[in-house]
Amino acid sequence: MILVTGGAGFIGSNFVLDWMAAEGSPVVNLDKLTYAGNAENLASLSKDVRHVFVQGDIGDRALVSGLLDKHKPEAIVHFAAESHVDRSILGPGEFVQTNVVGTFNLLEAARAYWSALAEPAKSQFRFLHVSTDEVYGSLTMSDPAFSETTAYAPNSPYAASKAASDHLVRAYHHTYGMPTVTTNCSNNYGPLQFPEKLIPLMIRNALQGKPLPVYGDGKNVRDWLYVGDHCSGIRAALKKGRPGETYNIGGNSERNNLEVVHALCEILDELHPSGAPHAKLITFVKDRPGHDWRYAINATKIKNELGWQPTEKFESGLRKTVQWYLNHSQWVENVTSGAYRNWISQNYEGRSAA
Ligand code: NAD
Ligand code: TYD
Repeated sequence: MILVTGGAGFIGSNFVLDWMAAEGSPVVNLDKLTYAGNAENLASLSKDVRHVFVQGDIGDRALVSGLLDKHKPEAIVHFAAESHVDRSILGPGEFVQTNVVGTFNLLEAARAYWSALAEPAKSQFRFLHVSTDEVYGSLTMSDPAFSETTAYAPNSPYAASKAASDHLVRAYHHTYGMPTVTTNCSNNYGPLQFPEKLIPLMIRNALQGKPLPVYGDGKNVRDWLYVGDHCSGIRAALKKGRPGETYNIGGNSERNNLEVVHALCEILDELHPSGAPHAKLITFVKDRPGHDWRYAINATKIKNELGWQPTEKFESGLRKTVQWYLNHSQWVENVTSGAYRNWISQNYEGRSAA
């Protein structure tokens, strides 16, 4: 039995589905169902008694303690967070509340539960904290990729809130001896990603014939990690990761944003032709404030220590992703409610073409 937080979001729901298929042991899934959480992602588990869904807040210590005492999980896998950089720029408060205060409350409930465990359950317990490469700041094109010893230099309110949560997790290991493991991964893509992030937003806009808003000159680089690879990396870190350690998880797929959008357009031209090349919709818009230039992950440690490496090539992963969105137009329709439309006008209406 494991407790997953944020398991109705993009990576969390992929992880729960992957865990059920690969491991099969029961999951308690605690998710607040914010705009980014969607119970429909887990519809295929609705009749599966191994999956217990609980709608609630990681910051609700009484609720979390009750779940830990009742279900006695061997591990907590912590995904729940506010996760979108642009939202953190327009409203950082929620990020501090969920990512910092929420993680602190979760750690406190976990510490009380873990402290009372008898051996060997106590030393076998794991608190796996899912974090991001954005805590390391921004690279130039000639810098080496982020390693686990790169100094923290978060630049956005999102990255700063994740960095703060990483520090708390580190301190709970160092001070209390709690067996924590932290993973810092690069940009994920794949099925079930909310269409506010680059790849699903561009797919949705392209299918609707709307402009494809590329920030700045489109030369910013991200290291793209297929979500299925991320899930297997987390499982490896959970099983074999050493307590107190951090592991970087990357996709070995650095691309700049324009390359990503052009690749998407070419796949859509083939799978869903619209008469004109989709690339005609590319529109350069005002840049994101403080926009990090480049992220890249050196994933040598997890490869050498845990035997994990990504298996998906960016081109095949992107094709699978586009195909998934083409096959799931109703899912996109359902998640892009009135609240989604408000976000789109808030984030994009002020960005006249650059
Ligand atoms: P997401 O925004 O898609 O999902 C977040 C989930 O957390 C949602 O289901 C939401 O309802 C839930 N949630 C939010 N606040 C909560 C609270 N207070 N209590 C309980 N549940 C709450 O995020 P994601 O993209 O799936 O990211 C998951 C984790 O991975 C996050 O911690 C994020 O920082 C990290 N991460 C994501 C990426 C990426 O590319 N998406 C990259 C690196 C790291
Ligand atoms: P995003 O998916 O928001 O992830 P992150 O900022 O956490 O890396 O953005 C990925 C890249 O795409 C980033 O450089 C910003 C850029 N971007 C655009 O150019 N246009 C957009 O509409 C969005 C959402 C992102």
